[in-house]
Amino acid sequence: MELNETIAKRTSVRNFTDEDVSIDDLKEMVRCAGLAPSINNSQPWKFYVITNQNILQAMAKAVQMKIDELFPDVSGKDANVKATINIFSTIFVKAPAVIAVAATPYEALSDKLLSHTKLTHDDLNVLRFYPDIQSIGASVENLLLSAVDLGYGACWLSGMLIARTELQEILKIETPYRLITFVAIGKPEGKPVPKKKKKVEEIFQLIE
Ligand SMILES: Cc1cc2nc3c(=O)[nH]c(=O)nc-3n(C[C@H](O)[C@H](O)[C@H](O)COP(=O)(O)O)c2cc1C
Repeated sequence: MELNETIAKRTSVRNFTDEDVSIDDLKEMVRCAGLAPSINNSQPWKFYVITNQNILQAMAKAVQMKIDELFPDVSGKDANVKATINIFSTIFVKAPAVIAVAATPYEALSDKLLSHTKLTHDDLNVLRFYPDIQSIGASVENLLLSAVDLGYGACWLSGMLIARTELQEILKIETPYRLITFVAIGKPEGKPVPKKKKKVEEIFQLIE
């Protein structure tokens, strides 16, 4: 598929058929994710691939419990909001495959000069606005585009990270890695229609 076509075709897919995603295809998506740019070419990522439905059920249970713990029972309009949060945070449980993306700490070039300053690595990370997380974002977009290219649909998921600690335990993600985000993948049910996006004129600003 042409790159422009793949980019235009990508849309968040949350409803999947029962068809499995082959391990070879998942590996190819991760390979493409690993080609993304990263701070100091640190490639801080690791991709944990989950196809086991029991594990997905355990993850969904942990997320639901965390939502119930953090958000009280509400009534009226807010009850609908909570119901929507429940749905969008646990939607992954019906996906044939989910990829958890974790990151390990990185060393930037400017870290080498830290001993001459009063700054810490964390100060630099905040000043540079989390280049590690930005790197993960780049890799996830590659992964999403590769999924489309291979005939799948996918959805980037951060709502479930409300239970990050519990999910890290379930997935046995250990230091130095920390969980950053998730992607659900499968064959789309129906024909997903990409959402309307802002026109380029609205988002393009030439600084003169
Ligand atoms: C960082 C990030 C986090 C997201 N988290 C969720 C989520 O937790 N649950 C969900 O259903 N969709 C999630 N999405 C998908 C967005 O809702 C979706 O990208 C947005 O509505 C635009 O639709 P499109 O992807 O079809 O263009 C997330 C997207 C991004 C980029």
